[in-house]
Formats: sequence, C-alpha cells, structure tokens
Amino acid sequence: MLSHISSKWILPFLLFDISHVLGRILVPIHPHGPSGNRRRAETPDLDLRSTETFLWGDADIELPVANLTVNMPDDAENILSMERFDGMLTKVDCNADNLALTFEDDATFLYAQRVWDWVNGADNHSFVMVAGPGDCGNNTRRLPYVISTIQYDEVANKATLAASLSSWEAIAHSYDLVVGGISGSPGTKNQTQAVQRRDIDKSTSVDFVHDFPFSVALSANGLSASLACTNCSTTGQFDMEFTISQKFFIPTGASMKIQPRGVSAIAQVKLSGSGTVTDALTKEFTLLEIPISAFTIPGVFDLGPFLTISVGAEISGITISAGVTTGATMKFDDAAVMEVDLLHPEKNSFSGWEPIVDAVDVKVDASITGGVAVFLKPALVLKAEAIGQGFEVGINMKIPNINAKLSAIASPQGACPAVEGQPKTTLGVSLSANIGGSLNFAFKKTSDDDPIFTVALAALDKPLATTCFPFGDVIQARSVSSPMIRGAGRRSISA
Ligand SMILES: *[C@@H]1O[C@H](CO)[C@@H](O)[C@H](O)[C@H]1NC(C)=O
Ligand SMILES: *[C@@H]1O[C@H](CO)[C@@H](O)[C@H](O)[C@H]1NC(C)=O
Ligand SMILES: *[C@@H]1O[C@H](CO)[C@@H](O)[C@H](O)[C@H]1NC(C)=O
Ligand SMILES: *[C@@H]1O[C@H](CO)[C@@H](O)[C@H](O)[C@H]1NC(C)=O
Ligand SMILES: *[C@@H]1O[C@H](CO)[C@@H](O)[C@H](O)[C@H]1NC(C)=O
Repeated sequence: MLSHISSKWILPFLLFDISHVLGRILVPIHPHGPSGNRRRAETPDLDLRSTETFLWGDADIELPVANLTVNMPDDAENILSMERFDGMLTKVDCNADNLALTFEDDATFLYAQRVWDWVNGADNHSFVMVAGPGDCGNNTRRLPYVISTIQYDEVANKATLAASLSSWEAIAHSYDLVVGGISGSPGTKNQTQAVQRRDIDKSTSVDFVHDFPFSVALSANGLSASLACTNCSTTGQFDMEFTISQKFFIPTGASMKIQPRGVSAIAQVKLSGSGTVTDALTKEFTLLEIPISAFTIPGVFDLGPFLTISVGAEISGITISAGVTTGATMKFDDAAVMEVDLLHPEKNSFSGWEPIVDAVDVKVDASITGGVAVFLKPALVLKAEAIGQGFEVGINMKIPNINAKLSAIASPQGACPAVEGQPKTTLGVSLSANIGGSLNFAFKKTSDDDPIFTVALAALDKPLATTCFPFGDVIQARSVSSPMIRGAGRRSISA
C-alpha cells in the first residue's frame, strides 16, 4: 500500500526565454542566389517545368534550410516559379481571378508567349505559377496560383493569366521535402565548414538548454521531508533533418534523423527531513512544460517541439534524521545518431545513445536508513507537419537516474572500515548506489492515436562502490587523548 503523501511544489526561479515560444519563420531564398549576388534572369527562365525547386532559409543568412521539390510529371500539368523571371517584368498585378504581367521588352514578352501558350492548347492544360515574396505587392510568402488560360496584349507587352490562388496542399500532389540537416560527425570538418555548420544549425536544431531549480515537499504519516535541487539543468541541442515525400498524394517517404550535440544533464538533489515511513512512496512532479524554439515555413512545414521535464522520487522504508545529497551528470556522445523511416521501420538505425553517467557529490549528513531513488525525466516531443502529412516523435529520457540504499550502522569497535587519518566513530551510514539513464523513442502519425512503433534504447545502470559515512562519538585511541568530535561526517565519492 502506498502511503498518502500530500505534496506541493514550488518553482522559485523558473526561467525560460520567451523567444523560444515564438519560433522562427523561414523565408524564401531566391533561385538565382542571394541578394547582392544574384544572376540576371534569362529567357529560358520563362520555360514551363515538370519539376520546380523552392528553397527557404533564415532571413540573415541565405543558406538553404528547406528544399521543396514539386513534381508535375503529367502531360497536362506544369509548374514555374515567378522568382526565376520577375526581374524581366515592369509591373505585376495579382487580382482575384488573374495575374497581369507586363514585360520589359518585346523579346522577353514574345518568348513568354511562345512557351506559355501551351496552356491555351487544350482545355485540361494548366500550370502552377508560384509568386515569390513581393511579386504580389507585399506578400512575404510564396503563393501558388493555378493558371488555366492566357490572353496577350501585344501593344502593352502584357500577359493576363486566368489564375486562381491555391494552396501547397492542393497543388503539390507529388513532392520531395528536406528540412534541416545533419552534417558528418564532429571533428571531421575544417574551419570554414565549421562556421557554415554553426549557421545552419541555428535553424535546424532544437535547443535543450534549461535550468530548473526546484523544491518539493514530501510529507507522509511519520515523515516530514523535502526534496530540493539547486543544480538541475540540461544543456546542448538536438540537430535534426526531416525528409518527406509523396507521389500523387500517396506518401512515399517520411524519415527523420536526430543527433545530439553537447547534450548533457545534471541533477544534484538533497533529501532532508526527519521521521520514518515504512512503505514505499513514489511521486512525480512536472517541473517544466514549454513549447520550445520551433521553425515554420507557412503553408509548407511546421515543427512544433514541446519539452516537459519531470522529477521523480521514490523513498522506501526510510528513517531519516537529517539529509542525504546525491547527484549525477549524464551526457550523450555527439556521435549518437538516430535514423527513422516511418514507412519502412526495418531501415531504422540507432547508434551511440548509451548515456555516459557519473556520480557527483554524494553526501550523508546524519543517520539515515532506507532506499532513495531520484530521476529527472525530460521528454521532448517533436511534431512535424508537412504538406498533407504529419507525424510526431517523442524522445523520452530518464537522465540521470540515481538509486541509493542506505543503512545506519552502530558498532563500539567502529561503524565504518578504518580510513587512514580519520578517527573511527561508533555510528555510520553505509551507502550503496546505482546510477544510470535510459532513453526511448516513440513515433506516431499525427492523425493516429497509437504509436507506429517505439524503440527502447540505452538503459544503463552502473553500481558505485559502497561508501561509509562516519557519525557519532569518536572512538578514543588508547594512548592519545583528543577532543570529542561530534556531528556530521562528510565524504564524497566519485565513480
Ligand atoms: C533540392 O532537392 C532536389 C531533389 O529533391 C535536388 O535535386 C536539388 O539539388 C536540391 N537543391 C538544393 C539546393 O539542395
Ligand atoms: C486531357 O484531355 C485529353 C483530350 O482532350 C485527354 O486525351 C487526356 O487524357 C487528358 N489529360 C488529363 C490529364 O486529363
Ligand atoms: C500589405 O498591403 C495591403 C494593401 O495592399 C495592406 O492592407 C497591408 O497592411 C500591407 N501589409 C503590410 C505588412 O505591409
Ligand atoms: C574547407 O571547406 C570549404 C567548404 O567546403 C572548402 O571550400 C575549403 O577549400 C576547405 N578548406 C580546406 C583547407 O580544406
Ligand atoms: C553544478 O554542478 C556542476 C558539475 O558538478 C558544476 O560544474 C557546477 O558548478 C554546479 N553549479 C552550481 C550552481 O552549483
């Protein structure tokens, strides 16, 4: 039977940057290169295409973060980005049912007329014209229009395209989309690449830097205790890459890669109080629940990461008169990588995710007997919504996980084994502990309730050497008289 615990929790210094919540909007990158270094449009840029690529990136650095390639393989369809040739236009009017384009000269107008007139050749011919940023006044997004017929004004060099504004979801029946990127393992790149990579990472990674001091009260019949943390934090980031494709509205690819970079966690917690409980008490508290830095391409892709961090504590058969501090650090190797193919799970690969765990600062202040287990549980949910497809990956971690067994010892001959330079005492606490960590992934389609699959990785449980903390009366050496030392003995162990 679990004892009744009344618990309240206080989060005095919970900080997080509000900008994390807002996320970042990726902006279109011009097909002819970055502003200031853009090649001039040439007449072949007016040709209708069966494949067109659209790139997006951060506003300040014009490096692609997302590549959407739309395929229009059918005989009756085509596609063209207006960004390719908008430098040849002197005027664009985007009206409710047409696009009116005025060309700078006869040559460009005649070329356009020749290659675009295909749309007038049959009732079912149509093409998608995608207006770039600023092509239709002050639009910041790319706007896909479906063009069904064209009329020409030879005198004004003006083409009026019967057009209806559509959506990416409706027009992109067949596409390949790559968002983000994971470059090779660290240490294999030169300085230039390193700088470029840092820039790219700015937009393709999910930040894992969080600090969450807490204090929670655990009270039960016979026990008054609290669990407090002054040094609990996570750091680093997760880099990621999404590859999504479909053909005639049927999904043909949905895969994702995730790699940790500098990801580590530390938990240093102190259980203090007084009293006795005989039953096991298990409690979990949510410390942090926030949407974190996401990025979005309006109408095309949306990444909504969400982070929850909880702390769990379990105490059993405990008699406590003071405090016990335990702690551990955990990190992932940057070489760890996860590649998941949602349509072909047999191709999934995971490597290097075994957590590296070390003990820090284990201390016992006074007499305590019983079992104490504490773990931090960060859970990161990444919800990716692409054109017509959506899926979620949950990364559930238990890092670090500390499990200690303490027993009070009393002996007139000395409770703890003799240690050079330290007086023997009549009382002591022997501590044996295991530290570890675990990680699992769960994947699901946004439209489904149940996961497609879950993967349990990397459960580590490592025993630490048993340590004895001396207390109480010092046992006098026969021939020497030394002052009585009472009170807490302190010693740290490390793994
Ligand atoms: C975009 O993706 C297409 C195919 O998916 C590829 O052919 C093209 O090279 C890519 N472009 C860039 C700039 O990465
Ligand atoms: C377009 O119409 C022609 C006949 O005018 C027909 O042969 C062809 O299959 C149609 N194509 C599509 C994609 O509907
Ligand atoms: C864009 O232009 C429209 C009218 O042309 C105007 O109502 C709107 O406020 C403008 N938006 C911005 C962000 O400038
Ligand atoms: C470093 O990488 C950049 C980009 O790939 C390349 O242009 C440059 O030549 C490389 N420099 C060296 C010294 O390898
Ligand atoms: C938290 O613990 C780490 C690792 O032991 C240490 O480097 C850091 O200084 C500690 N921070 C605080 C605020 O105690």
